[in-house]
Parts: sequence; C-alpha cells; structure tokens
Amino acid sequence: MNDAWWKNAVIYQIYPRSFCDSNADGIGDLRGILQRLDYLRELGVDVIWLSPIYASPNADNGYDISDYRAIHPDFGTMQDFDCLLSQIHARGMKLVMDLVVNHTSDEHIWFQQARQSKDNPYHDYYIWRDNHGGPPNNWNSWFGGPAWEYNPPTDEYYLHIFAKKQPDLNWRNPRLRREIYDMMCWWLNKGVDGFRMDVISLISKPKALPDDPNGDLSPYCINGPHVHEYLQEMHEQVLCHYDIMTVGECPGITVEEAKKYAGADRHELNMVFHFEHTSLTDGPYGKWTNARTPLPALKKTLAKWQQGLRGTAWNCLFWGNHDQPRAVSKFGCDLPEYRDRSAKMLCACLYLMQGTAYVYQGEELGMTNPGFFSLEQYRDVETLNAYHNLVGSGVLDKRTMLEYLACTSRDNARTPMQWTAGACAGFTAGDPWISPGRNFRAANAERELTDNDSVYHFYRRLLAFRKQSPIVRDGEFTLLWPEDERIFAYRRAYQGQTLSVLCNFSKEIASLPEPAAARGEVLFSNYTPPHTDGVLAPFEVIVTLQSSAPS
Ligand code: GLC
Ligand code: CA
Repeated sequence: MNDAWWKNAVIYQIYPRSFCDSNADGIGDLRGILQRLDYLRELGVDVIWLSPIYASPNADNGYDISDYRAIHPDFGTMQDFDCLLSQIHARGMKLVMDLVVNHTSDEHIWFQQARQSKDNPYHDYYIWRDNHGGPPNNWNSWFGGPAWEYNPPTDEYYLHIFAKKQPDLNWRNPRLRREIYDMMCWWLNKGVDGFRMDVISLISKPKALPDDPNGDLSPYCINGPHVHEYLQEMHEQVLCHYDIMTVGECPGITVEEAKKYAGADRHELNMVFHFEHTSLTDGPYGKWTNARTPLPALKKTLAKWQQGLRGTAWNCLFWGNHDQPRAVSKFGCDLPEYRDRSAKMLCACLYLMQGTAYVYQGEELGMTNPGFFSLEQYRDVETLNAYHNLVGSGVLDKRTMLEYLACTSRDNARTPMQWTAGACAGFTAGDPWISPGRNFRAANAERELTDNDSVYHFYRRLLAFRKQSPIVRDGEFTLLWPEDERIFAYRRAYQGQTLSVLCNFSKEIASLPEPAAARGEVLFSNYTPPHTDGVLAPFEVIVTLQSSAPS
C-alpha cells in the first residue's frame, strides 16, 4: 500500500470535447487525443483521466450516459478507443475512465423500460414515489428546480439530483449493482487502469425522504446510509481483482468521512476528491458569486486535509477540473502582467504538498477564464438553469448574474485547449462548440514549449522533481503563519531535510514574518533573481531546501 504506484503519479484530466479536434467538426475527439500523447508524456504525465466519452444525448456533456459500453460518435469509435488505449500503454502511461453510476441518461434503455410500467423488470433500477397530488418532498435539484419529475405512464415521480434528464439509479437493487459491476469488469478487461467515480458519495439514498427546511437534499443523500457497504461490495466483486487506481468524487465530505472512503484498511477507494478548498467562496446564491477566496481559510483548509489524512488515507491535490473556474483566475490573477507568475506560484504551492497530483488540461499553460460577457457564450446546463432560475425569479439582475457566471461557471474550464496562436487556438479547423479564451496568443502550448521560462516548463520541472522526492512524498507538513493574509507558506520535513514553500498570493509586496525562512538552496522560483531577503514580490514563489547540519 505504501508503495502503491498511484501515490507518486501525475494524473492529467482530459475533457475530451475541448481538448483536440481531429476532423474539423468543432468537437474534440479520441483521434485528437492520440495526436497529443507525446505532448503529455513530455510533460511528465503518468495517468490520463478521461471525462466521459460514452454514448450520451449530452444534456450534461456526457455525464448523462445512455450506453455504458458504447463510444459517442462525436468522439470516435470503439476501434479508436482501443487504439488510444494501446498507444497510451505503449508510452508507459495509464488510462483512468470516468464512471458515472449515480444516475444514467433518461435515454438509457434501462430508464426507457423503467418508466413504462410499475411491473417492468427495470422499474426498480430507479427511485420512484407515487403521485399524491405533487412531488413527494420539497428537495431541489443541484442543477435548479425540483429534484422530482413526473412520469405520466406510471403516475409517479422519479428522483434526479442533477438535470431531469439524469434520473438517479436505485443502488438498493442488487441486480442493478450486479449490472454496474459487470460493466466495470468489461472495461477493466479491456485494460483500463482505473476509475474516477462521479459523485460517488451520493449513490445511497435514505428510505424516508423528508422535507428539508431549505429544500436541500444534501443532508440526506451525501454519505447515505449504505454507501460504504456498496463500495466494499464493489471492491470485493471488482476492484480488488485488478491492479488499478480509484478516486471518488465526494462533494460535501469531511476529513473523518474521507478516511472511511479511502482509509488504507477500508477496502473501498484509493483516494477521494473533497471540495472544501474550492467552495470557500460559496454564499447566499450557492456557488454563484464574484467573491475571492480568503487566504487564511484556504491555508487552514488545505493544512487540515494534509494533517488529517496523514498516515491513514491519501490526498488528491487539485485546483481545478471541468466543473471549476480556472485556477489562475480563481486563486491567482489572470491580468496579463500576473498570469504567468501566479500560475507558477499556484503550481508550486499545491504540488509540493503530500498527495497525488491532478492537473486539469491547460493548467500547465496557465489558461484562464475566458471572460465571457453574454449568455449566448455559455453552453453548460448548470449555468443556463441557474441563470434562468435566479434572473427569472428576480433574485439577481442580469448584469450581476453575468458577472457571477464569468467567475464561477463551469464553462470557464471548458473552452478549447490552447495549442497554438493560430485560428481557434489550434483546437479545431472548424467552428468550435464553445468559443476559445481571449489570451491564446500568449498562453499556448506551441509558444510555451519553445520558452524554457514558460508556465509549461515550470510545471514539467516541478512535477519531475516531486516524483523522485521522498520529502514531497512523505515529509511532515507544517503550515507557517496561518493568519497572514498575503503569504501562504509551509514546510515539509523529512530525514533531516526541510523544504520551505513560500508563496505570495497578492499583488502587493509581502514581507515574510521571519525573513530567514527564505534561506537555503533555491530549488524553484518565478522571479530572476529570486528575492531571498524575506520580501516577496507580487505572486512570487520561492522554494528552498535546507539540510540541518549533522549533530
Ligand atoms: C460531477 C461531474 C459533473 C456532473 C455531475 C453530474 O459533479 O463532475 O460534471 O455534472 O457530476 O454527473
Ligand atoms: Ca471532432
């Protein structure tokens, strides 16, 4: 367990629709990914995590699956997939698939059957309640509107935590669980190397479905009554038979819960994603805000997870994914003068902690939010629903909501990968399904590969360092100056050596409370020369190594 390969791995998330389009239809595809495998290997990627590529009507860009064993024609064919998998393996890399089994699409054959009649053999694959003049309770969907949808043929309502085209599966049904395990084995037998499990903390629902004072289903559905039983069963029936890695997406979990999902002795998952550090800006309208993350809260949250899982479970290190705004825009600064520096600072700040490194496509180039300013530019179902709900009901005015979307919409992460300074950032020779960001002439792979001082090369060097560094892997973590509002600093200590990571998260010059903290051999910095006198320039990062004299 301590030597598990995934602990040292660099995992790169690909959002296939936006990564690389090989046939000019404006949509990224598997052959496009194939063309970029050498780029990923050069960066130091060990594992590719592919967001869903399965058949889907795309109500939620593939997170609504209509056939778990088919490839969406937008992305290619099963032959393309097999070729991609073997080319990934040929380069010594691995492939992890997205597993979306909290719900299916309403166009999945199971649901098509299930909705026809109460005695259909598939009826019980989903979660139904009789119609007593309205939905069974007041829960709201996470994508807005009621969490229940009426089904005329059976005069019932079905539960959907997400969009109404994403009915929730009934994990109480053993036959359904068996189907899912068989499907997982089918992919594993093809040779895939693991799964990222979509909203896995939501799969178990309580029997009673009480109203909630705020219409919030989270308290009942997050870490539901049987979730750990199901995962232990899945482990025994599927996971333990393969040398794979698993990571669960677990919105709303605490450190204590994470130890249950991913504790080394629990026989469930290898790692979990929590979202505590990305949700610190949540407010009266949920995630819709233009607030900045308060630095002391960010530091304390990440430190709590570093210390909390130490020795019992394992952290996932990430700033962004396909559901989050771009890290540089959210935690750094995307103005042209600070983009490059703050991207490097965020890279060092995160990946010198203990855990497995997750890089979301384009982060290694310092990609930013695109700065969309009109509703027509957005594609995401969550974003569009929220706009219509909040603006339609008069809770927020249009201008404010558009400002919030520009900060937190998921589409911020879904703009085309920036390959070149050419048309559409080199992503497609056709019309892209979503517009590219504004700054691809500065932030693109072609340019950054030739500039040894680029964000890309900073990522490459730092990721290479972390992979072979026992101090990064195992060193003890100590947060320095938790209340400081500009500086995020910590130490890692291991076998007489100390790594100090000193980051200025602000646009101002910031003095280290202890100037001597910057002493030692400088391993990484984003200014030339670095300011080792204890005063950090805007968004400066300095990483030093000190060896204590043998006593
Ligand atoms: C997860 C995915 C997100 C999706 C949701 C419903 O949170 O990351 O993109 O919309 O689950 O499947
Ligand atoms: Ca295409």
